[in-house]
Amino acid sequence: MKVQYADILIIGSGIAGLSFAIKLLRENPELRIVMATKGEVEEGSTRYAQGGIAVVLDQLRDNFESHIQDTLAASGGFADPQIVEMVVRQAPERLHELEEWGAHFDKNRKGKPDLALEGGHSVPRVVHARDSTGKEVARSLSAAALRFPQLEILSHHFAIDLHIYGDTPRCGGAWLLSPQGDAFPVIAPITLLATGGCGQLFSATTNPLIATGDGVAAAIRAHIPVLDLHTLQFHPTALYLPGKQPSFLLTEALRGFGAYVVNHDQERFLFATDPRGELATRDIVTRAIWKELSASGADNVFIDARHLDPKALEKAFPTVVAYCRLAGFDPTRVRVPVAPAAHYQCGGIYTDAHGRTIMPGLFAAGECASTGMHGRNRLASNSLLEALVFAHRAAKYILSHPPLLQAPSIPKSPLYMESGAPPIATIRIRKQLQQMMTNFYMGILDATEIIALASTQLHEFEMHLPNDVASLELRNLCVLALGVIENAESGEIFTNEKRRELALHTEKFWN
Ligand code: FAD
Ligand code: SIN
Repeated sequence: MKVQYADILIIGSGIAGLSFAIKLLRENPELRIVMATKGEVEEGSTRYAQGGIAVVLDQLRDNFESHIQDTLAASGGFADPQIVEMVVRQAPERLHELEEWGAHFDKNRKGKPDLALEGGHSVPRVVHARDSTGKEVARSLSAAALRFPQLEILSHHFAIDLHIYGDTPRCGGAWLLSPQGDAFPVIAPITLLATGGCGQLFSATTNPLIATGDGVAAAIRAHIPVLDLHTLQFHPTALYLPGKQPSFLLTEALRGFGAYVVNHDQERFLFATDPRGELATRDIVTRAIWKELSASGADNVFIDARHLDPKALEKAFPTVVAYCRLAGFDPTRVRVPVAPAAHYQCGGIYTDAHGRTIMPGLFAAGECASTGMHGRNRLASNSLLEALVFAHRAAKYILSHPPLLQAPSIPKSPLYMESGAPPIATIRIRKQLQQMMTNFYMGILDATEIIALASTQLHEFEMHLPNDVASLELRNLCVLALGVIENAESGEIFTNEKRRELALHTEKFWN
């Protein structure tokens, strides 16, 4: 069996994984870093981000306190005020660093950042690259990372499980599956999980196919605290094209630009729920749309941008306009059908203010982590920001606490793996699960059938761990489904007092 060694293993090549690697290698070129990613380097949610990054840059019209209050209000009062303040205050520095590494964002005629307005923000503060901010972020970060020869990127390598060892357990790396179907361990004293979200639990999602919650599922299997899995955010305005998976997003910035949400009777019905109408936070807008759909029996509502200047619309949203046109809905001429779709996992693997999980040796950052930033509902464009800040915090912690003292032991025996179930069954069951989870969230299915399906499937996988990615993803989706349902049935949100307790345990275990 092949065994690979590194100082640091990073799982995931989105904004969290890449910015973490760049920061570490810029400050300590001696480090040997292995980055595993299950697809191509740039494939992940980061690349599809549209709206942008929320940062207070306009000190005349905006201030940190306002961004902090908007974030706390969106969170339903569940975000951790200390974490929110830390992230918001660091935002300008992290953004400038991103620009230093090669990212370009739109400027206005005065050469100042062009700031967009999005739902839940009191003022325009979203830095963007037209409507494809994520593409620019992914392009610049992957180019910057690839300049470091010390970074070995293993693309199309799937992280199966964490390598946990010792009487007082530590994380010492992870098991990977090579594109040839061979499992092998990467042994490293420090591992970062940066595996993104789990939108693929649902039949309608804006998340790419890779978003199957693999890091969170691996953490659950390793008994590492994972919080608030049920706080899944649905984006209100994904293009409604039945059967299309993933769903194309119509960015929230469109509504900030003046587009309306209307029903089949052309009414702007959102004002009945919230005086901010289209500019309420996305949980409120989504619930109002669901209510409208259930009352009217319709499958979709519409984004109406016909009253806006068509040239300005095309200039600001070239990607959205082009995609909608291709799908047969020119937004400058017709209403575009939209419906809510699963978008973002607000909960995840517990981390403290340094990105440390409770398991020594293991950090988490980005969408797979629960840092205390989002509470029940994330404010628009706070996710890329949170990922940058926590990747930075984790890197800084590692650089100031050299971890490379003890070499983790080599796992005694490889995982028992064999060829999986025929992919056709795997795909069928994944679709079934996605539909059930969607129905569960819409309140038209109780949990019994989901628990039965996921438990049976997991039992199969316990007997025969497959060595194909589709089956391993299904295994993770089943773990996630059970976790989401367990949290949803209790309905509770992890409080900040309980986070403080976990922070104390984390401190104790790491020392
Ligand atoms: P990702 O970018 O999703 O990267 C995850 C990485 O982990 C990938 O490289 C993947 O291959 C790898 N991976 C996963 N599992 C495994 C495994 N088992 N083995 C190996 N590798 C694995 N947020 C904002 O702040 N502003 C926006 O404008 C915005 N727009 C969005 C638009 C869309 C359509 C979507 C889907 C999301 C948007 N978000 C936005 C959310 C934001 O993009 C994500 O939360 C963020 O990019 C997540 O970054 P990440 O690094 O955590 O994960
Ligand atoms: C969007 O552009 O609407 C997505 C923004 C986000 O997810 O924060």
